[in-house]
Amino acid sequence: MKNLALCLFVAFTFQVSAQISDDKLNEIIDQLTVDEKVYLSIGTGMDIPGFSDESDAPQAVVGITQDKVPGAAGTSYTSKKLGFPAVVFADGPAGIRISPERKEEPNQTFYATAFPIGTSISSSWNVNLAKEVGAAFGREGKAYGVDFLLAPALNIHRNPLGGRNFEYYSEDPVLGGKITAGFVNGVQSEGIGATIKHFVANNSETNRMQLNTVLSQRALREIYLKGFEIAIEESNPWAVMSSYNKINGVYTSESEELLTQILRGEWKYEGFVMTDWFAGKDAVAQIKAGNDLLMPGTNEQAKSLLDAVKNGALKEEILDRNIKYILKQYFKTYSFKNYKPTGKPDLEAHKKIARKAAAEGMILLKNNTTLPIATKEKIALFGVTSFETISGGTGSGDVNKAYMVSIKEGLKNAGYTLDKGLVANYEAYIKVEKAKIPPKKIFFEKDILVEDILWSKERLKELAKTNDVAVFTLGRTSGEFQDRIIDGDFNLTVNELELIKNISAAFQAQNKKCIVVLNIGGVIETESWKQYPDAILLAWQPGQEGGNAIGDIISGKTNPSGKLTVTFPIALNDVPSTKNFPGKVLDPTAPKPTKPLAALPAKEIYEEGIYVGYRYFDTFNVKTSYPFGFGLSYTQFEYSKLDITKVEDEITILCTVKNTGKTAGKEVVQVYVKSPEGTIEKPAKELKGFAKTKLLNVGESETVKINLNVKHLGYYNTNSLSWKLDEGAYEFLIGKSSLDIKLNASITLKSKIIETTSDLLSPKVKINELSKN
Ligand code: BGC
Repeated sequence: MKNLALCLFVAFTFQVSAQISDDKLNEIIDQLTVDEKVYLSIGTGMDIPGFSDESDAPQAVVGITQDKVPGAAGTSYTSKKLGFPAVVFADGPAGIRISPERKEEPNQTFYATAFPIGTSISSSWNVNLAKEVGAAFGREGKAYGVDFLLAPALNIHRNPLGGRNFEYYSEDPVLGGKITAGFVNGVQSEGIGATIKHFVANNSETNRMQLNTVLSQRALREIYLKGFEIAIEESNPWAVMSSYNKINGVYTSESEELLTQILRGEWKYEGFVMTDWFAGKDAVAQIKAGNDLLMPGTNEQAKSLLDAVKNGALKEEILDRNIKYILKQYFKTYSFKNYKPTGKPDLEAHKKIARKAAAEGMILLKNNTTLPIATKEKIALFGVTSFETISGGTGSGDVNKAYMVSIKEGLKNAGYTLDKGLVANYEAYIKVEKAKIPPKKIFFEKDILVEDILWSKERLKELAKTNDVAVFTLGRTSGEFQDRIIDGDFNLTVNELELIKNISAAFQAQNKKCIVVLNIGGVIETESWKQYPDAILLAWQPGQEGGNAIGDIISGKTNPSGKLTVTFPIALNDVPSTKNFPGKVLDPTAPKPTKPLAALPAKEIYEEGIYVGYRYFDTFNVKTSYPFGFGLSYTQFEYSKLDITKVEDEITILCTVKNTGKTAGKEVVQVYVKSPEGTIEKPAKELKGFAKTKLLNVGESETVKINLNVKHLGYYNTNSLSWKLDEGAYEFLIGKSSLDIKLNASITLKSKIIETTSDLLSPKVKINELSKN
């Protein structure tokens, strides 16, 4: 009778409210048996296609709800007694990753919109755009029956070779944190939960399931935790996903210091924490640490949790504590509200958002009075990825999309005429070459790209005669489980270099221009070849509308306004983390694992400390190919009237931007702060805020406003274990990039302890960190 009453109460609550009080939650939890509690602490498992015959594949539990939304990464258990439905979790950062088909509904498809990759979204430096994109994800998730999005991903671009950098936002935590917050606010405004991942310092893929990341408390706090802290403060995501790696010897998913003391204690986080899929080793340690939900869930985990409760190794109250966090969020979901998904998101509206976002994330790296080009021009289109344009990376960051607009199609849609013979040559070649590539066994295997065609100089001369301009696209792909490599990936292949040189030379010889489009997911070498073409457009992996968005930029329909969120170094060895990326295997004599998911115990020491990205290049005066924050426009902007005021701890920065060129455009105002020397060394400058103007017409001005709390100017002092502010002048540098500073002013602050912390996540060993002294 009591149960029935509870059921009715719960059902009633689902209908009317997104919130449930603590007392009611306690009442519900009191009704649960230990078994039920354990099953609420793990997911219902996962069947990995291509893995079923592997003996050491992660064993999925057979859950009756596993197929609620086919292709989703996970589901929760149901409880008949309490009327709990299954809650659905689906990736990822570029779109809702589910199967496009369902057996039960053979006449309908469930394709999701492939939005541009994370790095592209952040390159817009537009928090409102990130919010708009997030809201589209939210609506699509709702229509397809997804309750939690397993995104956004905000790990730091620590090294250009990071295999999943494309999913991540930036080398800078303030930018990454703020874009994350915008995106999360968008997703959650539609009633879908966002999951920020991978918490934390999951910056390489090699041996990722057994990698020990060794870093100082200062680097951890200032670089790797910072973005998560900002995101939680500014958007309160429903969930956090812990990562695969260890930090200073302990798996993040088993780290009480990380998940309870920092996340709950210091940051007052109220959502729940889930593991990454099959992460960590010890289910009991994970639950105790405050990793509330183990995903995707295995029979082995259920057994070890049940045994631990029985033999007293795990107190039931710990399970209760965790379940409370989980249920608080589950109660907000559409599944718990008995909402029936329509299966019909507004894909037409979302494709417009995807196209707009893709264009706004593109960065004009070079423009020698070349772009935009009139649509009457005839284009000789080169490069395999002009035809097989890459939407995004592989693995959980991939999306089952209905179509991909290639650059060829996008340029045609924009009204350009393409050289027919060249198009036919490429298409025939690609067809033959693609047929030679074996089909993927597992969805997260890296895509193999078709090698480019090396055209003879005579053919290029002919093509230059009969066309007005050349467009050459260079493509790269990467994905889960693997980091990128140097030769032929970060560095261009010999053929690619030849092609850029030869096409540019052939066209320039006839007074015609050559444009290089970069259809890439991460940083590549640009220094050795950037002098050859007349224009370089960094289009990233722009999602399914990529070709159209590139057409918008090339034709001038959209004025590029993206800025680099990551430095393009001259050489890979200029990046200090390259020295120890992606870590070392502990036993070098151990045989290399042959199974796709297997990893060897390895260690990666972050010797560069806080000197990641521009923090390194600008402090040590190391030249870059393109600096952080860089990006050209078809117009010019003038900066003036910098005004900085401080009222108590709130700093307000005002600055006027005027479009002084000949085309409407948007500008990104970047606020860097140079802190006083003090007793502890600091980077030359750090990004503390930014703002993007609206579309400014020719001659139009806008005064942008950036708010900043004094506490964000502090640094983490490892000796005193506190966030501190040094006394002295803080110089505010307002720039177009980290190196192109337009205005500056300073304010003087008194020294102050912002916050004292406990001694958490200590490396316990001395790390030889990079120092400018
Ligand atoms: C990835 C996560 C993803 C999960 C579920 C893991 O391999 O690291 O980012 O959300 O799979 O697909």
